[in-house]
Amino acid sequence: MFSAVQGKNIILGISGGIAAYKTPQLVRLLKKAGANVRVALTASGSRFVSELSLATVSGEAVCRETFPPADVPGTDFTRHISLGEWADALVIAPATANTLARLAVGLCDDMLSACFITLRPGKPVLIFPAMDGQMYRSASVRRNVATLVAGGCTVIEPESGDLASGQCGTGRMPDPEVIADRIRSSLQEIRRDSPLSGRQVVITAGPTREKIDDVRFVSNYSSGKMGFALACAARERGAEVRLITGPVHLATPEGVERFDVESACEMHDAAKPFFATCAVFIAAAAVADYRPEMPASGKLKKTEPEMRLLLVRNPDIVAEFGAQKQPGQLAVGFALETSEGLASAHGKLDEKHLDLVAFNTYDRKTSGFDVDTNTMTLIDRNHRETLLPTMLKTEAARLLIGHIEQLMDPDR
Ligand code: PMT
Repeated sequence: MFSAVQGKNIILGISGGIAAYKTPQLVRLLKKAGANVRVALTASGSRFVSELSLATVSGEAVCRETFPPADVPGTDFTRHISLGEWADALVIAPATANTLARLAVGLCDDMLSACFITLRPGKPVLIFPAMDGQMYRSASVRRNVATLVAGGCTVIEPESGDLASGQCGTGRMPDPEVIADRIRSSLQEIRRDSPLSGRQVVITAGPTREKIDDVRFVSNYSSGKMGFALACAARERGAEVRLITGPVHLATPEGVERFDVESACEMHDAAKPFFATCAVFIAAAAVADYRPEMPASGKLKKTEPEMRLLLVRNPDIVAEFGAQKQPGQLAVGFALETSEGLASAHGKLDEKHLDLVAFNTYDRKTSGFDVDTNTMTLIDRNHRETLLPTMLKTEAARLLIGHIEQLMDPDR
């Protein structure tokens, strides 16, 4: 499953944030997958996670100082250079505001920053910022993130949730499983032997927002995680991926063209120009079926004891593609229901002229909206079902893409 990291040399840079407590688990996962892991720990990082724990799980001494002790036999006196040269990837998790700033200006006064500077060109740098939400939104952090991205680093947007400050907001480091999977995908060679290689894939993701007035909208809990995971998986297979997404807090997968939209009508308008040329259309978005007929301008006043909203139907994007698709094009939809879901998913396959439907089990804890895992039943155009057990959405996405490859006509 993690063959992309097998035998790869990975430096894990850890700076001083509470999320550092998750890093021994991350090292264990990478080691288990066959990677060679060296840890570069900042002085503040060592206040949050012990050097001994990291050395034990990695099986290697932890690097901190650029100046090694002169009296220890076998010391590598130029390890501030050699470690960076050794690495196939540098992962910085958690990256604090201080570390982001130091990397952005090119300081080089500890092993983490030295590794960053001496890493060989073209090797992936994955940075997982984690801090208080207000800090993350500050102008200086935004500026430093932009500098690092412009320099070729992949900065992964932190997750939303409870923060150490006691507040709830954006700033959490993803769980070790999610980070390990992200590392795997950045080390994955793009497959050129897939039937998807060089073909256009369009994916819708996330929720839509349907305006009631200028400050309120109707929406749902979709996070976009499933659609973004599919974009990564299709890209890994060499596809040219266009990702049309509603409002989400997720970083754009590498090599994927992204279109941000708000409403179902905007999503429809963004997708339509690609209908004729795409090989596969995957509708993972949770598109609102209805929108308020006449969104008010400004903010509606609270004058009446009750208010009625008249909703009108939105265009059904995947159904429209399904009805128009030409031989050789594939339409893939999702289905989410709170009751009698499987039967309804079979119905959607026929009604919307789909080639494959992914029916999600909905429980809000391990499957469906806004969680990292999903439990899906894939239903192909002959109504054959394949049950996928609960797994990371990233893994489920790879399996779903594998199913799509099997349905593709290899001669087109
Ligand atoms: O984003 P996450 O938090 O990771 O959650 C993933 C998900 C649960 C949102 C996703 O996997 C999913 O199930 N998306 C579809 C949810 C949904 O809206 O299902 P539906 O049964 O209402 O729609 C059926 C299909 O028609 C879907 O493929 C949908 O994208 C598509 N559709 C629906 C309405 C519409 N107007 N246009 C569409 O294209």
